[in-house]
Amino acid sequence: MLASGSGTNLQALIDTAEVRAHITMVVSDRPDAAALTRAEEADIPRRVVQFADHLDREAFSATLADVVEDSGAKGVVLAGFMRVLSPVFVDRFPGRILNIHPSLLPAFSGARAVEAALAAGVEVTGVTVHFVDYQVDQGPIVAQVEVPIVEGDDPGTLHRRIQEVEHLLYPELVKAFVKGDLYLDGARVVGP
Ligand code: GAR
Repeated sequence: MLASGSGTNLQALIDTAEVRAHITMVVSDRPDAAALTRAEEADIPRRVVQFADHLDREAFSATLADVVEDSGAKGVVLAGFMRVLSPVFVDRFPGRILNIHPSLLPAFSGARAVEAALAAGVEVTGVTVHFVDYQVDQGPIVAQVEVPIVEGDDPGTLHRRIQEVEHLLYPELVKAFVKGDLYLDGARVVGP
């Protein structure tokens, strides 16, 4: 599991026994990530790989891939990981990286998807779970769930409702992923 932030999605995955049993390690690019504390409380091995310790994204991605591989993981789940992974990483786990994103991709890709949906004035945004490929936020889509934007929403209220959806959706899909019931066949998603 790779996580950069508060780790509420990571927590939802830790709380899912069928998923927890498969988590070899939590890796963060931020030493202060609350996600690391959640992992510690669950007695899961942890590592920090900082971008600043590397020359460029390729070097960072290579170290990250080594750390993930050394943990024994066969697949990678991004849970609020806020760094772009270069092909150096993606090629090491082809078709075996899942990501969750707080918008209905391809709308509002990138780091500030919740704010962007509000600024665009759309009535509906949502959650996307997708496999990761070379293009940021563009890999094959596994599932999408809509979340309406309501009057008076600010980034905080909207993100909280989005995360409520994430915490139900992601554990179910990651459960299927670790069981081998959710996988990529070429560019085609085969799912439960
Ligand atoms: C989640 O809402 C996730 O969808 C988003 O970061 C949040 C992390 O929250 N991911 C992205 O924006 C990826 N581009 P969490 O740390 O509490 O799970």
